Amino acid sequence: MDGALTFLGIETSCDDTAAAVVRSVPGGPGAILSSVVLGQAALHAAFGGVVPEIAARAHAEKADLAVEAALAQAGTGLGALDGIAVTSGPGLIGGLLAGVMLARGLAAATGLPVIGVNHLAAHALTPRLTEGLAFPYLVLLVSGGHAQFLRAQGTSAFARLGGTIDDAPGEAFDKVAKLLGLPQPGGPSVEAEAAKGDPARFALPRPLLDRPGCELSFSGLKTAVLRARDGLVAAQGGLTEADRADLCAAFQAAVAEVLAEKTRRALAAAGTGALAVAGGVAANGTIRAALQAVAEAAGARFLAPPLALCTDNGAMVAFAGAERWREGAQSGDDLAARPRWPLDAASPAMLGGGKKGAKA
Ligand code: KG4
Ligand code: ZN
Repeated sequence: MDGALTFLGIETSCDDTAAAVVRSVPGGPGAILSSVVLGQAALHAAFGGVVPEIAARAHAEKADLAVEAALAQAGTGLGALDGIAVTSGPGLIGGLLAGVMLARGLAAATGLPVIGVNHLAAHALTPRLTEGLAFPYLVLLVSGGHAQFLRAQGTSAFARLGGTIDDAPGEAFDKVAKLLGLPQPGGPSVEAEAAKGDPARFALPRPLLDRPGCELSFSGLKTAVLRARDGLVAAQGGLTEADRADLCAAFQAAVAEVLAEKTRRALAAAGTGALAVAGGVAANGTIRAALQAVAEAAGARFLAPPLALCTDNGAMVAFAGAERWREGAQSGDDLAARPRWPLDAASPAMLGGGKKGAKA
């Protein structure tokens, strides 16, 4: 017995219905036996953001199909599993309920343990899944619903060093895309436009850079893009291709610069020899490069998961569930969805709720 555990992971907290089977060994990286992600982008495209009711219905319709496909691709039956992990929070309540009910049903039918996983912890533990990174390390979690610096100290021990006081960066990318008429999700479309643009043409603000600490803010930056767009439209009746590309480049450069400087401070405060990024925004090449430079300057190791593991997926949930189970987590036969679930209970609660649900 080598302590290996095979877990099914189910993820339905936002707009991706995902399931995966992962085999993990103590302390080492995990092996992803299958990972299925059924995105909902097409369902929400007409609304310029995630519509919670539509998301919940789609999760309820597709979650069992995702599980079936994940088991088939892994060549595993339910009987070969050691446990079932499911994202039980934070996120949109309807989607969380769909996943939790499915997981509880499967657990009741098979007798397997069911482990409720914190979605943010799953993102934050991804460098252990991919590389077996040892604690402690600093994680910058940047997604459509979240932005925070976490000192990862154990599978459920995270100290929050700072985070956004308003929008999440992915949310800002999505809003900027919307106001420039680019497709959702905004991150990839803004990044593609930015590659053709001049980041120096528009002078956008660098929010909170002049204040000490690691807090972040992105809503003023988005408003600055809106004003610049309106100025161009008023002056010339519309936007040229170059205007759009330059605005995207300027916005992306501002986000990258702010994240880099705040990360430099967080790394110094955390005192760890490794920096890991997680969340959908970590897929951005310019932002990754800026963060990598910060890590190198501090002599710290830099870890960025492969793109498919940056965005929401079931593998990170399966892995986090296995790690928690190995450490003695109880089976949640009465597991409940938890829309708000801060990772660091000792930190003050975050204000506001993003378009992707409550911010933890
Ligand atoms: O982690 P994730 O899949 O979902 C959660 O929000 O939990 O992150 C999705 C977010 C979206 O806001 C999307 O626009 C952003 O990540 N994103 C990006 C890029 N790819 C995805 N932002 C910037 N650049 C990208 N290449
Ligand atoms: Zn996420």
